[in-house]
This record gives sequence, C-alpha cells and structure tokens, in this order.
Amino acid sequence: MVSLTGKDILNGEQFTREEIDLIFTVADDFRDQLRDKPALNLMNGYVLAALFFEPSTRTRLSFETAMHRLSGNVIGFSSAESSSTAKGETLIDTIRTVDQYADIIAMRHPQIGSANEAASVANAPVLNGGDGAGQHPTQALLDLYTIRRERGDVNGTTIVLCGDLKNGRTVHAGVEVYKHFQYNLIMVSPEQLKMPADITSRLRGYGVHIRETTSLEDALAEGDVLYMTRIQKERFADPDEYERLKGSYILTREMVERIRPDLTILHPLPRVNEITSDVDSLSTAAYFRQVRNGVFIRMALIALIMGKV
Ligand code: NCD
Repeated sequence: MVSLTGKDILNGEQFTREEIDLIFTVADDFRDQLRDKPALNLMNGYVLAALFFEPSTRTRLSFETAMHRLSGNVIGFSSAESSSTAKGETLIDTIRTVDQYADIIAMRHPQIGSANEAASVANAPVLNGGDGAGQHPTQALLDLYTIRRERGDVNGTTIVLCGDLKNGRTVHAGVEVYKHFQYNLIMVSPEQLKMPADITSRLRGYGVHIRETTSLEDALAEGDVLYMTRIQKERFADPDEYERLKGSYILTREMVERIRPDLTILHPLPRVNEITSDVDSLSTAAYFRQVRNGVFIRMALIALIMGKV
C-alpha cells in the first residue's frame, strides 16, 4: 500500500512511480471536487508554516492557497529580512521554533541542502519549495502533471528543456520525476549553463535518451514539449556573465508557428524575456494552466502527508 503519510518532500529523486500516480489521482479528485465549492473540509484546525527566505510569488501563494482550500490555516514569512534571520538566527533554530507552532512546513531558502537540514531537526514534515540551485520537487510534480494533462501521456514524448539548466532547480528536480516514463530529452543551453554532469550521467544510467545542443530551433523541430526557463540571475557571481547570457534564448510566436505549431509550452515562471507575450494567446501555451495545476498538486501533497486521504 503506497503512503506518503509523515513524509518530507525534499527532492525529485525520492518519488516512486506509485507515489506519483497516487499524488496525481488525488490532485484530479480535488480538482473535480472544487468545481462546485471553494474549499474541502479536510485540514480544519491544522497549521501550515510557509517560510520563504528567498523571493517567491507562485510557490508561496500556491502552498498557502492549497492549505486554505483544504480549510487549514497558514502562518509564515515571505523574506529573510522580516524574520529573525536578519538578527543572525540560524536556520536550525528558526525551524526548531516553527516546529512548536506548525503541523507541516513549506520552505524556500538560498542554500542547497537547506530543506534536508530543516527536515533533520523538524518533527513536522518539510516540503522543499526550492533550496538554492538545488531541488524544487513540488514544482517538478506539477510540471509533470501539466505535461500529462496537456498531452494525455508523457510516454512517447520528446521534452525540450531550455535555458539555465546549470542553476535551475525546477529542471534538476524535473528530470528525476520524468525518468519514470519513456521519453526523449533534448537539453538546450549555452555551454556555460549546461545541466550538471552528475545529473546527466545519472539520467543516462536510467536509460533516458539525451541530446544536448545550443540551438533552440533545432530542438524545437523534434520537440513535443518545450520547458522554457529563466536565466537565474541571482546565482551568478559575475554580473557581466549574466548580461552576456540573459538573452540567449527567446521563444517567439513566429518560431512556434513556423517550426512546431502544436508545441506544448511550459515555463515555471517568472519569465523575464525568454517567451514573448504574443505566445501567451496560443492554445498550447500552458504556463498559466501550469500555475493552477500547482494548487491541486500541493493540496494533494499536504492531504496525503497529513494522512487525510
Ligand atoms: C522557479 C523557482 O523559483 O525556482 N519558479 C517557481 O518556483 N515557480 C523558477 C525561477 O525562479 O526561475
């Protein structure tokens, strides 16, 4: 019997195929149930702490919306500056404190490994909403769920990942959840921003067919799904290097219509300039549906981890 009760959600690698199927089934069920009411009475009285030491719009508001739509309560902070981190408190002490208040903790922090560190001291389950350039497992699940919804099946697809594959935590976690399916992977990035070699070699070990290229147009000719990402400015030590690379890839409507009119287009958002706004009205531009899917996935995770479904 598959169960997520009491589990931490720390990385993309941790999920079995059975767990992914369960999360998606519950997410689909919650979506159906919310068609005719605003909230489900599953988490009354429970408290989710949303601890965001790094900027966020979607991940934080999506976790908060998910908890509210399960009739639970939310506490938290949205910047390190407004927490005692600004006074020099360690992450461990902050987590030990919040553990006295909350039943479940969602967090984002600039350090790789911070969510694991938090999970090692918290009694409450910890959900990693992004640890620096490390992992972002809840985003990976909602991305996979979106591909499945948009295309019917993940098997048989060619997925193109484009942009900052070195620093992008959504793609680091994403490839770990896609590995359960038979798909082809094309990775498009500047040489300086390639997917870390340890991840690529692990993927080859899983048997994933991989092609790496610097040309987005070449990749699009073969791709079914494009997962566009932002060049992660905040991870660059050298601002000039960021300036040189920030315009590396820009997807336009003209490119989609010319090369691959039925391309499914995803982006974790925020976008800076990598998808022009005239793409938004294409029926296959799925990034705002992807945002909505995130609420159902996070509702499913919270309810499953708290043993409510
Ligand atoms: C991403 C993130 O924060 O890693 N956004 C998100 O969570 N939806 C991607 C990004 O910031 O570029």
